[in-house]
Parts: sequence; C-alpha cells; structure tokens
Amino acid sequence: MSTDSCPPLFGPAFDADPYPAFEWLRRNAPVTRVPLPGCEAWLVTRYEDAVEALTHPSLSKDPASGSPEWRAASLGLPLDHRPSLARHMINADGEDHSRLRRLVSATFTPRRMEGLRARAQEVTDGLLDRLDGDEADLVADLAYPLPITIICDLLGVPEEDRDAFHRLASVIDSAAASEVEQISLATDGLEKFLSDLVTLKRTRPGDDLLTELVRRSHRGEIHPDELTSTAFLLLIAGHETTVALIGNGLLALLRHPEQLAALRADFSLLPDVVDEMLRYDGPVRNATWRFPTEPVVIGGQRMLPGDPVLVSLLAANRDPSVFPDPDAFSPGRIGEPHLGFGRGPHYCIGAALAKVEAEVAIGSVLRRFPRLALATDPGELAWWPSAIMRGLFSLPVRLGG
Ligand code: HEM
Repeated sequence: MSTDSCPPLFGPAFDADPYPAFEWLRRNAPVTRVPLPGCEAWLVTRYEDAVEALTHPSLSKDPASGSPEWRAASLGLPLDHRPSLARHMINADGEDHSRLRRLVSATFTPRRMEGLRARAQEVTDGLLDRLDGDEADLVADLAYPLPITIICDLLGVPEEDRDAFHRLASVIDSAAASEVEQISLATDGLEKFLSDLVTLKRTRPGDDLLTELVRRSHRGEIHPDELTSTAFLLLIAGHETTVALIGNGLLALLRHPEQLAALRADFSLLPDVVDEMLRYDGPVRNATWRFPTEPVVIGGQRMLPGDPVLVSLLAANRDPSVFPDPDAFSPGRIGEPHLGFGRGPHYCIGAALAKVEAEVAIGSVLRRFPRLALATDPGELAWWPSAIMRGLFSLPVRLGG
C-alpha cells in the first residue's frame, strides 16, 4: 500500500487494524515524532532500529530520565511516579535492574514453568467444563481467568481477593492513556491491595513468591517499595499480556482455516503456531518508555536527552526486510526471532510461562471443539484502546457441539 499521508495513528479504525499505518511509517518515516496528549514522542517502527533502541546502553528505562514535558504530560503517571508501584525492574537500569531481576528470575525459568503445565491444564479443563450452550466468549470464559489464576497462584494472592485485583488491573491495562482519572483511582486501589497483601504474607506466610520476597525484604535484600513494585509488575505483566495472546492468537487462527486445519492434524505444531501468533498480532503494541541519557542517533534521527521513545513491536514484527510476506500468518518461519517479548536486558521474564499457558489454552479448546468457529464478523470486534497493549474485549465463538 502507498498513500501520500500516514493513516491515523489513533482511534477505533487504528485499533481495529494498525498495520496499514505501520507499513506507511516503516516506508516513509521509520523513526518519527508522534503527538501524544501533552508532549511528543519518537516512534520507532523498523525491526533493525527497534533492536537498536531496545538494546541501546544510552536509552534509560528510569522515568526520572524523562523530559519535563513528558513528566508534566502525566503519560506514565501515576504508575511511573509512585515509589510503592514504580520501583521495579522495568523502570531500572544497570546494576539495579540486574539485582531486581535476579530476585525473581529463578521462579520463571523454562523448567519451572514446564512444571506449571499440569496446573494450567487443570484450570483450563475446569473453565472449558463450565461452557454451556453453543456460544461462548473465549476472552471472558478462558483467556482472562487462566493467566490470572496462574499468576495469583505463583504470587500467593488468596482466591477471595482475585476478582478485586482483576477489576483494578483491567482498568490500568486496557484503558486509554487519556483516561487519567480512572487510571489514577484504579492505581490507588492497587496500591492499597498490595500493601494489604504484603501485611497478610507477614502474618500468614505461604509457599509462594510474595512470601519469599517479604523474607528477603526482612533480610534487607529488597526495599519495601521495591517489594510492592515487583509484586505489582508481575501481577500486571503476567496477566493481561497473556489474555491478549490467547485472544488475538485464537482470532488469527480462526481467520486462517488452512493453518487451523494443519494444527488440528498435527498438534505438535502448537509451539510454532503460538510463536507466530506473537509475531503476527502480539499483545504488546509498544515497548515501555525509554529516554536517551545523551544524544543518540537511531535510524538517522537525532534524539536528545530526555526525549520519550516508543518502540513499536507490532510494526517491527511486520517488517518485510526481516519477515518475508509479513502480513501472512505463517507458523514455522525461520530466520530472525520476532520482538513480541522484547529484546535485550528487559526481555520478558515471563516468556516461558506465557507460552505454556497459551499452548495449553489454545490446544485444549481446539481439541475439545472440533468445529469451533467465529460467531461474529471480525470487523465487529472491539479492541482495547490502550497505547501499550493490543487485546480484544471479547471473542464470541460458536462451539459447534
Ligand atoms: C504473551 C504474554 C507476554 C508478552 C507478549 C510479554 C511481553 C513483554 C515485553 C515486550 C517486555 C519488554 C518490555 C520493554 O522492553 O519495554 C516484557 C517484559 C517483562 N515481562 Fe512480559 N510479556 C508477557 C507475559 C509475561 C508474564 C506471564 C510475566 C510474568 C510472570 C511477564 C513479566 C515481565 C517482566 C517482569 C518484564 C520486565 C523484565 C525486565 O525489565 O527485565 N510477562 N514482557
């Protein structure tokens, strides 16, 4: 496609299909300034530039490195400026980042995550058993409850508190950036939720990650703000992202009957199919904010200290110079890996967990319902208006008996 001006970068049409705009940007303005409410940001859309930005030692993840305009615009607020929620690894650089990451990385190794496969299967089977009648919404009925159950199990969030957590988290993850007041209220709620949870773990320790972090905090290995911030990051990052992978991924598959039939004929293709889902229409639109600490040139553009930088993972993952025929859903691609989980020091710590959950959820629903089909025109589906995430509000299907 080639048009003279860039298709809109905001609004329902963009949310429904952002890829024509990304194609235009990659061709005509691969590293460009885009207007946001209250400030401008650099948007990086080509794969090679995206990798450079994600791994650049002079691009800081610390919100304190952001320009005064970015900070005044409240774009990261209140999440990036509340010590009890913001002092986690994704906002840290260098030694601080490594220390915070090391505190939890042992919990998320691929081997430990494989150990959770049986639990993911048990939860999924229970959710599928509950489906009643011929119609279902695979976002509400499967994609939401599975990841929240698993991450809450891991962290030790009591069953009775999970609905409250889910309500607060979904505001933060799927709200538009402009809904600042709504986000702020939900953030207040989450701050209180986490502080109550830490108090609970102090008085009633369990066999869970949060109890372990509380113990480390008593030993002085982690500041109390880092403790609540880490719990916050893991709960949020470990939840909505996987919801979107399962929802977007199932949609992609249901829209590609040949690939669906190939998978049904040979379920050993599932890991390749999930990997292609992450490239083709992954859950994370843009990587989190980065800020140059000195002048930096990427894609021929000079970025100044403090300039906010967004890396479009969705755009980079459709770059034709890396992925031949990039708009085709084509599991089993060889060559460069996609950027769905990021790249470099902040590469997703939960990648193995997300893949296990998606494989279990998608494999199980397809095995149980051989005639599964979309129950709506894909053009009618509503997407989250979030600037960070790409996910579906619902995925109506016919189960087909
Ligand atoms: C399909 C699901 C997921 C996707 C697509 C995804 C994607 C990403 C991406 C793109 C980043 C890098 C962000 C950046 O560099 O700005 C990231 C980081 C991170 N993810 Fe995930 N994620 C997923 C699931 C999870 C899960 C299940 C967890 C937790 C258990 C998790 C925890 C994290 C954490 C803690 C980081 C920060 C790592 C660091 O700063 O060193 N993610 N994720």
